[in-house]
Amino acid sequence: MSVARAGLRAAAVSLLAALLAAGAPAQTAPPEVVQTMCQACHGLDGNAPVSAFPQLAGQRPEYLQKQLEDFLAKRRVNDAMAPALEALNKGDIPAVAAYYAAQKPKPAGSSNERLLAEGKALYDDGNTATGVPACVGCHLAGGVGNERYPRLAGQFPEYAVAQMKAFKSGARSNDKGKVMRAVAARLSEQEMAAVAEYLAAQP
Ligand code: HEC
Ligand code: HEC
Repeated sequence: MSVARAGLRAAAVSLLAALLAAGAPAQTAPPEVVQTMCQACHGLDGNAPVSAFPQLAGQRPEYLQKQLEDFLAKRRVNDAMAPALEALNKGDIPAVAAYYAAQKPKPAGSSNERLLAEGKALYDDGNTATGVPACVGCHLAGGVGNERYPRLAGQFPEYAVAQMKAFKSGARSNDKGKVMRAVAARLSEQEMAAVAEYLAAQP
């Protein structure tokens, strides 16, 4: 490559970098309550440090908002979340939901290829023999979710399985129209483990 061409290329690269920086969305500072409370378990960027706490980064803002309203109204109950909820005002919810939704998710990942393939089949096709509907019909391809259905991609399998069990037992009952309770009621423990493994590996 000639010196002139190399120089031109370098100029083009730095121009591109400048354009990308200018186009990048402004990084909003975490809301106060996230810094003082939520980050201890969910991480400052919504990627929880341990699998006991759900990933919030990249979750749909509408879903985060609904869950926080449900927790405050005790339609959804969890002992670990209770003290943090004392510090959460209803007015903080939209900013907290928007903040965590805007963070970059780091998928939990999976190395169990066999379980993952079994989970993908259930996710995409359901189980006609037992009447499990295809998850993809609501949670969309790869579990990305939309404004009505939560994102499941990248979530810790431990957490996802715990929620499916909670829906199945009725311990969690904040799904409108019992939609998830009806699905979970038909899931076997093996299917829960497989589908959670598949979801953990999704970007
Ligand atoms: C002591 C640890 C802890 C703290 C602090 C905490 N959480 Fe949680 N959070 C949890 C646990 C555990 C769950 C799972 C609850 C369950 O199993 O139903 C959860 C669940 C959630 C969920 C539901 C996620 C989903 O996918 O449905 C949201 C949203 C959430 N927390 C937001 C917050 C916010 C906002 C704060 C700060 C005000 C906060 N949490 C503080 C432990 C914590
Ligand atoms: C008819 C639509 C529908 C179908 C089909 C469906 N879901 Fe859901 N799912 C929902 C809704 C709605 C929620 C959120 C409920 C709420 O508001 O708390 C949910 C929540 C969940 C959650 C909890 C998410 C969290 O962050 O706490 C998991 C896990 C889940 N679904 C897994 C599945 C799996 C696996 C399948 C397929 C076997 C499936 N869902 C099929 C509608 C559906």
